[in-house]
Amino acid sequence: MPRRYMKILDEAAGHERPALRPSDPCVRSKAAKKPVQSVQMTYIVNDNCIKCKYMDCVEVCPVDCFYEGENMLVIHPDECIDCGVCEPECPVEAIKPDTEPGVEKWLGVNAEFAKMWPNITAKKTPPADAKQWEGVANKFEEQFSPNPGTGD
Ligand code: SF4
Ligand code: F3S
Repeated sequence: MPRRYMKILDEAAGHERPALRPSDPCVRSKAAKKPVQSVQMTYIVNDNCIKCKYMDCVEVCPVDCFYEGENMLVIHPDECIDCGVCEPECPVEAIKPDTEPGVEKWLGVNAEFAKMWPNITAKKTPPADAKQWEGVANKFEEQFSPNPGTGD
């Protein structure tokens, strides 16, 4: 894996969202989209998604905040309204709330690549070998692709 992507994980591992004040410009702009009290919460996609990429999740998201990489999806943390409906849709439990322990590093990965990858709102055909990648360890370190998917 390229060193710069490992750096994203390392940085994200110690990542904590700074407290936002109602007067901050970003809070004011987001307030129109979701309540101020939920600004700091989101859901994330973790490495269980890599090479499985089932895409059931995109069908249910009310705000279309999934973004497509070559072999996984991510959630844009500033667009997610924290509704939680996507979490039970994923067959490999790749979607978690950012309130769960241990998801900090995935928050950084989701935030970083959601800025670079195209939006996806409709399910496509999953990879033919998706089943064999379920539950495989170290998928981010060994299989992650920073390349974008094709989007919608
Ligand atoms: Fe979309 Fe809701 Fe899942 Fe966020 S929690 S990604 S808004 S379905
Ligand atoms: Fe990935 Fe699960 Fe969605 S495998 S594409 S997070 S349904």
